[in-house]
Amino acid sequence: MIEDDLLLAQLWRAVSPRERDETSVVNALEELLVAHGLKKDKAIVLDAAGGFGFPSVELTVRGWFVEYADASRAMFQEAVHRGWEQKAPNWDAMMFYGAGNRTWEDLKELDDGMYDAVLCMGNSLPHAVTWGKDGNPGEAREAIVGALRQFHRLLKQKGILYVDKQVEGDPGALHHIERVELRERPYDVSLITRNDPAHHLREWNAVLRNGDWAGTFGSRGYLLQENELLDLLHKAGFRDIRMATLRGDCYEGFTARK
Ligand SMILES: C[S@@+](CC[C@H](N)C(=O)[O-])C[C@H]1O[C@@H](n2cnc3c(N)ncnc32)[C@H](O)[C@@H]1O
Repeated sequence: MIEDDLLLAQLWRAVSPRERDETSVVNALEELLVAHGLKKDKAIVLDAAGGFGFPSVELTVRGWFVEYADASRAMFQEAVHRGWEQKAPNWDAMMFYGAGNRTWEDLKELDDGMYDAVLCMGNSLPHAVTWGKDGNPGEAREAIVGALRQFHRLLKQKGILYVDKQVEGDPGALHHIERVELRERPYDVSLITRNDPAHHLREWNAVLRNGDWAGTFGSRGYLLQENELLDLLHKAGFRDIRMATLRGDCYEGFTARK
């Protein structure tokens, strides 16, 4: 197993546009925010699983005010670079909550009702404590319940959560991606996902190959199925929960109101 958080962040950044149409996703997300009454010169958005800066960099470039949070320093580092590359306005002054080492549990340090919208994208919830690790899915479930409560608390009244998950009923797949450049070396990548509802297991593995060399990243998280996600959203206090998958995305998305 490869233990290199920065390489994992660079890998996800490189393969993400092969998995989803990033431009369509941001277009659809912007439409969704506007349809929920948000105005880009007034709204404050929290990207709670900021990752390598998708979609916070794109939204910022389009004039939205987005605060970034993530538990991974390596992801944060990628996000900072991406923001510079895309000349995101005020990126240096952008609120990077905790410089990439704040978990969703740590969000309790923030005041109630700060945000008009909270985003949690890229099927991040299942990996609440297991991103890049062979973690304990039971612990991940507890962290998911806590995270949804924090997202609810952090929203203003009538604020909107957008959260996504793997496609319901999908058993997982093997997806070969040729020629990914990482640190100026070419790799062939195989993404292997497995969704096991009987054991609530979501596995995301990436095998990298360069000539005779092969290495694997693995994440073993808690599989959230639709009924359970809807139930947890209700229990966290959300209402008006609707499926709202974004055009171009490879995940299924839901909106929920405070
Ligand atoms: C698959 S990536 C998705 C990133 C981004 N939202 C996207 O769409 O590309 C999952 C992200 O969730 C973050 N994450 C997982 N558990 C977390 C937690 N408990 N607190 C904060 N961030 C977490 C990881 O660090 C990682 O950046």
